[in-house]
Amino acid sequence: MSETAAPGDSVSADGLTVGDEVVVDSGPIAHGGFVVARHEGRVLFIRHTLPGERVRARITEGGPGDRFLRADAVEILDAAPARLEPPCPYAGPGLCGGCDFQHVDVAEQRRLKASVVTEQLQRLAYVERDVVVEAVPGDVEGLRWRTRTEFAVDAEGRAGMRRHRSHDLLAIDDCLIASERVVGTGVLQGHWAGEKAVDVVAPSTGPAVVVRIPSDEADAPVVTETIAAQSLSRDFDVSARGFWQVHPGAAATFVDAVIDGLRPQQGERCLDLYAGVGVFTSALAQAVGERGQVIAVESDATAVAQARLNVETVTPWVQYVQGRVDHVFGVESTGRVAGSRKGGRRRSAPRRPNSALPPTADVVVLDPPRTGAGKAVIAAVVALAPRALAYVACDPAALARDTAYLMERGYALTSLRAFDAFPMTHHVECVAIFERNEP
Ligand SMILES: C[S@@+](CC[C@H](N)C(=O)[O-])C[C@H]1O[C@@H](n2cnc3c(N)ncnc32)[C@H](O)[C@@H]1O
Repeated sequence: MSETAAPGDSVSADGLTVGDEVVVDSGPIAHGGFVVARHEGRVLFIRHTLPGERVRARITEGGPGDRFLRADAVEILDAAPARLEPPCPYAGPGLCGGCDFQHVDVAEQRRLKASVVTEQLQRLAYVERDVVVEAVPGDVEGLRWRTRTEFAVDAEGRAGMRRHRSHDLLAIDDCLIASERVVGTGVLQGHWAGEKAVDVVAPSTGPAVVVRIPSDEADAPVVTETIAAQSLSRDFDVSARGFWQVHPGAAATFVDAVIDGLRPQQGERCLDLYAGVGVFTSALAQAVGERGQVIAVESDATAVAQARLNVETVTPWVQYVQGRVDHVFGVESTGRVAGSRKGGRRRSAPRRPNSALPPTADVVVLDPPRTGAGKAVIAAVVALAPRALAYVACDPAALARDTAYLMERGYALTSLRAFDAFPMTHHVECVAIFERNEP
């Protein structure tokens, strides 16, 4: 608390600083898992509340002169109907930073995420669209879905989760969004001295594996993931440290949404950008048949090696290109360094387009990381004049920004599906289909 304030006192908004408490009315949900409120004209981003509640909020970040302040709702004075007692004892102010919505009924979580997607599209792309966030098949009340979880390790070797926006570790003995098979490894009861983290992967086929970071990272085992979708039914070899969707129903749901949206035809030429081990690549290859062609671009060398063995050999009309998508197109872009878990901003030098790139394509799939594809990549994709694109997005803000770039270049957003692939968190996955406007 600041000297000027005690709970219940009214604090001048200008003087608000970390530890002060104010009573506010929670406003709309915003992208990132918090609601927006105002106190004497200052903007507060508050966690652990819901739109329409009256709460006592404690400032956690920011002070005089900052554009906004962050806060936690520490007392609920007037609760929203969708509020629940959080099932997880580690959810709440100052506790685990992993979940944002443990205190919210799952149906309401999906409505909140839908309004975030709607708002981002409105604000960044001037698109008016009602969005429904669909449950991913197999979901049970938003709990026990996470098949891949990295736990942080503290100096004493205990595994746990980071507190929100902090490096502090909260030791935990269970994580209710992690699958039974993940926590069943005993990872949270183990002693991991000398490690930075432990990554537990419970693949759809075979036993769960634990990878110590950094000790075992370079030799991470390969696991088998099985997809049983309408558009694709097969196994994939994936490094335990490589990319795979964490919700067990997600990969099959997204591949069907992409194929239903694009309807690739026999003989068509497709591009799968940010292709991973080849989930969309394989479904496209199956749909276009051997008279067609699929070019997949992926930066992670291990994923490309796995796809060359498992996808190119089965459907030889697939060609994998290893590299950053912007480099492969020969365009300049800023963004996270591809294939790097740490990321970092870097401006890449312009170079020539890769000779494997065709002059035109019929359909394109983009499934970029959180930063999105960006203007230069979108312009390069549009230059191939595809009849349709599927954009699989884990960040609605990046999707909305890239939607605006596509619309400026003659494409219309013709369908949008959104999926609750990360219940209890603010994250949402969208599959957007764009089609070229008639000239
Ligand atoms: C969201 S994952 C999608 C993977 C795949 N489509 C799937 O569904 O399994 C994004 C992929 O893009 C790769 N990646 C990240 N940045 C990249 C870049 N600039 N160029 C090419 N690939 C990139 C990552 O290694 C990761 O495999």
